[in-house]
Amino acid sequence: MSTTPALRPYLPSDAARCAAIFRASIEALTSDDYGDEQRRAWAATADDVAAFGARLAKSLTLVATISGEPIGFGSLKGADVIDMLYVDPEFARRGVGALLIDALTRLAKGRGAKQLTSEVSDTAKASFENQGFVAQRRNLIQLDDEWLANTTMLKPLVAADPARPPTSKLH
Ligand SMILES: CC(C)(COP(=O)(O)OP(=O)(O)OC[C@H]1O[C@@H](n2cnc3c(N)ncnc32)[C@H](O)[C@@H]1OP(=O)(O)O)[C@@H](O)C(=O)NCCC(=O)NCCS
Repeated sequence: MSTTPALRPYLPSDAARCAAIFRASIEALTSDDYGDEQRRAWAATADDVAAFGARLAKSLTLVATISGEPIGFGSLKGADVIDMLYVDPEFARRGVGALLIDALTRLAKGRGAKQLTSEVSDTAKASFENQGFVAQRRNLIQLDDEWLANTTMLKPLVAADPARPPTSKLH
């Protein structure tokens, strides 16, 4: 069995599996950063699987697979926002998140984005920093009666113009 992850576009039939990955990753991976009630409110945002799937379908969503089975997903909203990034806890810390961020970055560049931003959970912050994102500001998001903190992070996609003199003409 291949353990190398592959990427493919999201299909409507992935909705239930992606919702399960979403819930499992929140359950297993975020307890150092968020309380039980916060995580319950966060995971509950996938309870309506049809609405959850519609959100993924509306963005450019990539599904990471191993041997054809979905093990993670990430979505690019418009040209320049990473909306979601979730990896099955069974397959966490193997570079799947990095693979998805890298692919979404390339897609953003292909869409002409000059920068890429994301509202990043405290759990995912290191993964985004590893990919060149820099924290911009802290946010508080209300879900049901719970308030969850996250961080807006940004990665410039165009290099700053080097301050160099114009090249001389050839004679
Ligand atoms: C954030 C998330 C998507 C990262 O997914 P992931 O596949 O585990 O990410 P990666 O493997 O690329 O990187 C995670 C860590 O594993 C490490 N890692 C990567 N490959 C590794 C390997 N082969 N062996 C050991 N560690 C490895 C990375 O260095 C990184 O470590 P660090 O965080 O200490 O810097 C995942 O933790 C998740 O789903 N979290 C819960 C939901 C969440 O917060 N989503 C983000 C919403 S904005």
